[in-house]
Amino acid sequence: TSHIPVITIDGPTASGKGTVSHLVAEKLGFHYLDSGALYRLTALSALRKGTDLHDEHALAKLARDLPVSFKGEHIFLGADDVSAAIRAEEVGNSASKIAALPAVRQALYGLQLDFRKAPGLVADGRDMGTVIFPNAPLKVFLTASVEARADRRYKQLIGKGFSANMDDLLKDLRERDERDANRKIAPLKPAEGAYVLDTSNMTVDEAVAQVLGWYAALKKQHVV
Ligand code: CDP
Ligand code: CDP
Repeated sequence: TSHIPVITIDGPTASGKGTVSHLVAEKLGFHYLDSGALYRLTALSALRKGTDLHDEHALAKLARDLPVSFKGEHIFLGADDVSAAIRAEEVGNSASKIAALPAVRQALYGLQLDFRKAPGLVADGRDMGTVIFPNAPLKVFLTASVEARADRRYKQLIGKGFSANMDDLLKDLRERDERDANRKIAPLKPAEGAYVLDTSNMTVDEAVAQVLGWYAALKKQHVV
């Protein structure tokens, strides 16, 4: 499968990875991997079962046996549609804690590789370009100021009917940035050769156009 093109889009929380990746995948007719959802599913599963968030062995087992299925835009854990539940801030925060555990990352490794299918894949997360698909022909590091990201997350949460508080969100994002960037395993950083795109003052459409532009340039050079 190493000849199947992959576009990796990594970056901090609420930088727009999901939104941009989804649209780029749609435009190119590629598959889409939301790797963060896998960490969120593991966290949700642990929260529901009352698993200790420090119990690396138990969490890795949960991750390995995740009864997950993707149906269109919907994500199921067993028969349960958890598409909305995994987006709660508490779940994201717990996901970021368990994502620092090597055995959990190892348990989710193979599952992520399986998403590389013809005609191509757009993969979003923290370590898509650095660890999971290091030979991807196009790697993007999407970022934005913490204020812009908190503002985006606020609007998203309110729109989905969750309650949100701007001060708490800023604190939460800073904590999560810190944890994701400083962990020992697969820390958040631009992959070698990644294009860095700061979208603080960009619209979604502008960001999507930039990524598609980079991809088109690679095609022209016959790199993909
Ligand atoms: O949407 P948001 O960026 O807040 O989070 P997400 O992409 O859904 O990921 C949730 C958490 O999972 C992040 O805070 C990361 O700690 C972790 N994660 C990771 O470690 N590696 C990935 N490839 C994706 C997510
Ligand atoms: O996946 P990640 O956590 O990086 O971000 P997301 O879930 O895609 O959320 C980003 C939010 O910011 C969405 O509601 C987008 O509409 C909005 N947004 C963006 O993604 N990019 C911009 N340049 C401007 C706004």
